[in-house]
Amino acid sequence: MTFLGRTVLALVISAPMAAPLLAEDKKPEPTNPVVIERMETMKAIGGGMKALADMAKGEAPFDSAKADASVAVIAEKAVLVPAKFEVNEPDPATEALPKIWDNYDDFIKKSEDMAAAATSVGPIGDQAALGAAVGKIGGTCKACHRDYRE
Ligand code: HEC
Repeated sequence: MTFLGRTVLALVISAPMAAPLLAEDKKPEPTNPVVIERMETMKAIGGGMKALADMAKGEAPFDSAKADASVAVIAEKAVLVPAKFEVNEPDPATEALPKIWDNYDDFIKKSEDMAAAATSVGPIGDQAALGAAVGKIGGTCKACHRDYRE
């Protein structure tokens, strides 16, 4: 093969392979088991919140039992957060800011706010109650992510 031919071939092969690395929001997969666990906890909380938000926005049909179950998942996982974030474990995939561990009491307080918000939500019987629950719980997610998540 000519030099030019090889160069063109190299470009063709490397461009698509480089693309995922260049995509800004692409993070590597986490490998640290402690980080994987805390991300899984947040993912479960996120799953519960998404189910509620989809129903609130009318993107999913209102289902009172599903809404209650989603709130229960958030309440159940929220109390695990302090233990899952006990140590500042490194991982290239983590979005947890190191200042969590300089302000650990405040971080715990914010996780307790989330747990309290979720446990204070009564049975969700209609869209109005759903909207109120999403607002109440959602505020506690934002309060913590704003300070402690990349
Ligand atoms: C006490 C602080 C705190 C609260 C409260 C909190 N989060 Fe998080 N959340 C974090 C941190 C820190 C991370 C980044 C974890 C990491 O990457 O290691 C995160 C990550 C996430 C992620 C990404 C998980 C992944 O795959 O990496 C989702 C989704 C998420 N949170 C949803 C929520 C929702 C929804 C709520 C509210 C119901 C919530 N969080 C409340 C601190 C919090």
